[in-house]
Amino acid sequence: MTRRKISIAQPSFLGNEKKYVLDALESGWISSIGPYIENFEREFARHHGVKHAIATHNGTIALHLALAASGITEGDEVIVPDLTFIATANSVKYCHATPVLTDVALDDWNLDTAEIVRKITPKTKAIIPVHLYGNPAKMMEIRNISQAHHLLVIEDCAEALGATCSGKNVGTIGDIGCFSFFGNKIITTGEGGMCITNNDELADKMRILRDHGMNRNKKYWYDVLGFNYRMTNMQAAVGLAQLEQLDDLLKARDEIYQRYQSAFSGNPHIIIQNNHGAHNVNWIFTLRMKGLTFAQRDEVIESLKQYQIDSRPVFYPIHQMKFYQDSKSLPTEFPNSITISMEGISIPTFIGLQECEIDYVAESLLKSLKACRS
Ligand SMILES: Cc1ncc(COP(=O)(O)O)c(C=O)c1O
Repeated sequence: MTRRKISIAQPSFLGNEKKYVLDALESGWISSIGPYIENFEREFARHHGVKHAIATHNGTIALHLALAASGITEGDEVIVPDLTFIATANSVKYCHATPVLTDVALDDWNLDTAEIVRKITPKTKAIIPVHLYGNPAKMMEIRNISQAHHLLVIEDCAEALGATCSGKNVGTIGDIGCFSFFGNKIITTGEGGMCITNNDELADKMRILRDHGMNRNKKYWYDVLGFNYRMTNMQAAVGLAQLEQLDDLLKARDEIYQRYQSAFSGNPHIIIQNNHGAHNVNWIFTLRMKGLTFAQRDEVIESLKQYQIDSRPVFYPIHQMKFYQDSKSLPTEFPNSITISMEGISIPTFIGLQECEIDYVAESLLKSLKACRS
């Protein structure tokens, strides 16, 4: 039997995606005006039980829009995890503010709350917790810290649509929640993003800044420097169709999670994220291979290729990027971020991955790990 190459991620379009996109095309509303944008925003807000959802062209600019609307500017400091996708920290730099890289906890791989407190200065204005690989950050503790220090919280939910923390959807606990709909995300619009909030003023600012800063009541009159961060009606058509299937998509991903988890359970060389009682979603199943070096982890990735399995390394710590080395932090401040990155690997997770393929990936990973350790 020839086995298909197993990719790390694949989108799935099993609902009304084609129908809605064709409808958008036939209607002629293909840019950033059209009913699908309003419908997608309304349904996304309804799903989260919030007042406002503002669709954007991707998740990176959703973060930038949230920070810009919050007034983050030069001289301000924003606490971000050292272990995340680069866009989280870059969005702070786009505001000419300083991303204060902060170590993550070894248990959940998300912002370490004691480290957050240590990094707060009089210049700190906001915290961006990231729910890495679908696992919620310790949001209740982070909210308490932010309230005590009068800081904004902008949740980076790019990888965690559908996750909950103390029964609350991620993205609804902080002041603004930002999502990504890139092709490998829980739901996709090709490229796309969303900001959600209950704050009328922030929502209004985000809508204005998204549309070049144009005055709502006077066309082509600009009160502030804005951006073109709008989503298209075609993106929103796909997004609405995907959102309609969210419960099924999450359930299917959860089944993959359970099967990987039982394949690895009890193995002393494998560590997975601790969700500390929160409800995580399985964006991309990611694990630590205890004690590995960066070179050994890459060896495992190469070995998996021989088995026709695609995998990817956990993000590199941001402090290691050249253009972050001017930041105030020293490499010695990030032991956990380095360890998780060094030992971390993500393995195939997508709708349509068969049970026998999950078992094959798990077996191949364990064989590759054994070979690399011997
Ligand atoms: C944690 C995190 N933040 C932000 C982003 C940026 O989203 P996008 O790729 O839609 O710009 C991503 C996307 O991969 C992400 O994983």
